[in-house]
Amino acid sequence: MPPVSEAESESPGGRVRLVGRAVTASVARAPWLWPLLRGPMTRYFDDLAVGWDERTGAPGAEHLAPLAVAVTKIDRRPERALDIGTGTGVAALFVAREFPRASVRGIDISEEMIRQAKGKVGLDPEGRIAFRVGDASSLPFDDGHFDLVTQLNMPPFFAETSRVLRHGGHAIVAASSGDRTPFFTPDAVLRRGFERNGMVEVKAGKIGRGSYFVARKGD
Ligand SMILES: C[S@@+](CC[C@H](N)C(=O)[O-])C[C@H]1O[C@@H](n2cnc3c(N)ncnc32)[C@H](O)[C@@H]1O
Repeated sequence: MPPVSEAESESPGGRVRLVGRAVTASVARAPWLWPLLRGPMTRYFDDLAVGWDERTGAPGAEHLAPLAVAVTKIDRRPERALDIGTGTGVAALFVAREFPRASVRGIDISEEMIRQAKGKVGLDPEGRIAFRVGDASSLPFDDGHFDLVTQLNMPPFFAETSRVLRHGGHAIVAASSGDRTPFFTPDAVLRRGFERNGMVEVKAGKIGRGSYFVARKGD
């Protein structure tokens, strides 16, 4: 993890980043700790859901930029995509716009976030998009169901991401503010985590402040 200066860790943004990094490191390296974190995490995001888009600029170009670049690195247009930790659904809606023939699911542990996301589905005339409450540590989907799994500003759950991907399918982990994102995972951790779960790196990169990592499940 990048060092956090004393002054930075004492500012409100610095504290959020510090907690976010600790959670992300735990989930990525010691996923068995997640049951202890699930309750506080859910309550935290329930409280933040109303007004999330306005406060974070979530639907904006800068928030979505690393995801927008990452989807250009995959070699097949997905038919079924899943966005994990979808929050108010901005990344799922982006994927749906980008791949107009794909069905897109968004999942989040926060009921309040999912309520916000569902409020946007009326903007999807073909009904290709659905949001539901669920935990990334035990996804309610069959093995190999998806061609693409995305996550934006969210800790990685490698085993479940790999399980729900078909062979040859892609995972994208993106962070809107790169290593200043609270739930940022360094490339080396992503590489190792995906490799342990039968996936290989396709491309890692940066765009503006954001960063992305694309992996493919082995054939
Ligand atoms: C920082 S927000 C990002 C939301 C959205 N992806 C965005 O970029 O605007 C992280 C989201 O991940 C969700 N989350 C955290 N852990 C999760 C888990 N294990 N399963 C599903 N969602 C989770 C939180 O509830 C929250 O909505």
